[in-house]
Amino acid sequence: MEDMVIQTSQLTKKYGDQTTVNQVNLHVKRGRIYGLLGRNGAGKTTIMKMILGLTSATSGSVELFGSTLSGNEKLLYPRIGAMIEAPGFYPNLTGTENLEIFARLRGTASNHAVKHALEIVGLPYQDKKTFGKYSLGMKQRLGIANAILHDPELLILDEPTNGLDPIGISEMRDFMKKLSTQQGKTILISSHILSEISLLADDVGILDHGVLLEESSMKDLEKRNSKYILLEVSDIPKTLLILERKFQVQEYSVQDEHTVQIYDTSLNMGELNTALVLEGITLMNSGLYTQTLEDYFKNITGGEGIA
Ligand SMILES: Nc1ncnc2c1ncn2[C@@H]1O[C@H](COP(=O)(O)OP(=O)(O)O)[C@@H](O)[C@H]1O
Ligand SMILES: [Mg+2]
Repeated sequence: MEDMVIQTSQLTKKYGDQTTVNQVNLHVKRGRIYGLLGRNGAGKTTIMKMILGLTSATSGSVELFGSTLSGNEKLLYPRIGAMIEAPGFYPNLTGTENLEIFARLRGTASNHAVKHALEIVGLPYQDKKTFGKYSLGMKQRLGIANAILHDPELLILDEPTNGLDPIGISEMRDFMKKLSTQQGKTILISSHILSEISLLADDVGILDHGVLLEESSMKDLEKRNSKYILLEVSDIPKTLLILERKFQVQEYSVQDEHTVQIYDTSLNMGELNTALVLEGITLMNSGLYTQTLEDYFKNITGGEGIA
């Protein structure tokens, strides 16, 4: 069984001279929630549209469930549920009536499916309220209910919390987590809000000006959301040996040929200094720093940061 549900290779979209999506290699693993994080205009919607075949790629390719998208659309689409931008529903029909129409159009789902989907997103079944009178939050919920109607393995949701109030956002988070943990769904979700992604996602891709700057697990990212010791030394390989063998340090990252960040801040600096000197290593600089996740995003996206 393939482990990778979505994999893009060098996925690129150009509009005229503008490269909106630039050689993106995205990896969404089965059963995980992947958060695509980027400012407005970063290219999130365009990537999702290419994954869904709603717009063609200029170059590069998309693989879904281990098969190339191109030519396999009919087999692959029934396994996916999506909500991209504002979903189009009939304003003078109720939520239930709207979903029943979509269920029939797709030829998949029964009345039970409509009821079940509404239940998951927390909307009433057979309510009298018409879609036109729905709040923004209810509209978003109905959009997601529509996406999960045919019980797809993969959900692609473009900024699903847009326009929701804090309670709505937290409820949305809860049912997405349920879909993932209880039903094993794979979810790709986009957002321009760091805190939202950090509370929800298992894996994160950071997109900036169409470039995927980083892809990592939330766990690994959180390690950077912490205090660390910065060492500037004359010899990194030797220093790492000492750190690992003598001080049992496992959590560190090498920044460049002279600096390393150590996330175990209980390290005894006096003892380390002595050990380095004994090995003929010069310690040029050291210090204790705190980095928040926000600092981290600011650094890698070139200063402006993400809200
Ligand atoms: N159909 C289009 N024609 C021209 N430019 C487009 C089109 N769609 C999107 N863009 C441009 O591509 C960039 C990325 O857009 P988008 O994928 O919507 O970003 P995001 O979803 O991250 O806000 C923006 O600069 C946008 O103006
Ligand atoms: Mg968008």
